[in-house]
Amino acid sequence: MATTAYLTDAASISTGATRRLALVTGASSGIGRGFAEQLARTGYDVVVVARRRDVLDTLASDLQSAHGAQVEVLEADLATDAGVTAVEERLARGDIDLLINNAGFGTRGEFAELPVARELQEIDLNVRALVRLCHAALPSMCARSAGGIINVASTGGFQPVPFMATYAATKAFVLHFSEALHEEVAPHGVTITCLCPGPVKTAFQETAGIDRSAMPSIAYVSVEGVVSAALAALQRGRAIAIPGALNRATAQGAMLMPRVVTRKIAGSMFRHAGSKRRG
Ligand SMILES: NC(=O)c1ccc[n+]([C@@H]2O[C@H](COP(=O)([O-])OP(=O)(O)OC[C@H]3O[C@@H](n4cnc5c(N)ncnc54)[C@H](OP(=O)(O)O)[C@@H]3O)[C@@H](O)[C@H]2O)c1
Repeated sequence: MATTAYLTDAASISTGATRRLALVTGASSGIGRGFAEQLARTGYDVVVVARRRDVLDTLASDLQSAHGAQVEVLEADLATDAGVTAVEERLARGDIDLLINNAGFGTRGEFAELPVARELQEIDLNVRALVRLCHAALPSMCARSAGGIINVASTGGFQPVPFMATYAATKAFVLHFSEALHEEVAPHGVTITCLCPGPVKTAFQETAGIDRSAMPSIAYVSVEGVVSAALAALQRGRAIAIPGALNRATAQGAMLMPRVVTRKIAGSMFRHAGSKRRG
């Protein structure tokens, strides 16, 4: 299995060796912010992408002063064509070593009652933007025979999830797409890892309108734990990273059990999981 040195070691930072460059979407909050922080700490410069410029500006100055990282702020709404185009143009410069396709959100409720515009926005962000950014990043990575992409899916991508039907389907797409690309680009010296987190305490639940108690508390993994697991999996050339033993067992179980059973279990978890929604 291919192993690539993505994480700059402490010695090369202290001797002032060239820092690597990562681009993180959804860096203003939660898991994406965790990626930006951990990468800056381990010797990366970072391009941070999200809609909230003020939050990104503060993050950039924090990372610069704490870790000496160069941080470039790119304000973009990745649910829009213009926003994705701006990030594609940045990737086309060909200097990004690591792309983290993390921006995403979920919706919960009976599909027929959810606003269809929001469902389509979810597909635009979770699927269309991710596909376009992979397509923009890969040519220069393959030409250099170096680089990596982490695509953020979810354990929800391992089975259909009634009452989060669109969200789980977007993440199933990301999982299958990433696994297929992993095989395609490995011979070119590029690694694609699909990160499939279980529940993580971020703004995700509030945005989706999910009560956090719907998921067992032992299934929750910290942002730092999720980011470390993803970067370690990338370093080892793994196609999939599922942080947390319980989440790995659940994902395995979903692949082994009859589909009628897994979708009924998933539906029973999310039918009554509603809470006040944000966004
Ligand atoms: N938390 C969990 O339990 C969990 C579990 C499995 C998978 N995930 C996945 O992990 C990823 C990160 O989620 P999170 O938990 O960190 O949630 P979060 O705290 O809500 O962060 C979401 C990030 O995405 C950005 N974003 C949202 N809409 C955007 C848009 N239209 N254009 C550009 N950026 C946008 C947000 O920034 P702005 O609002 O500033 O644009 C924010 O930085 C998502 O793909 C999610 O599906 C999360």
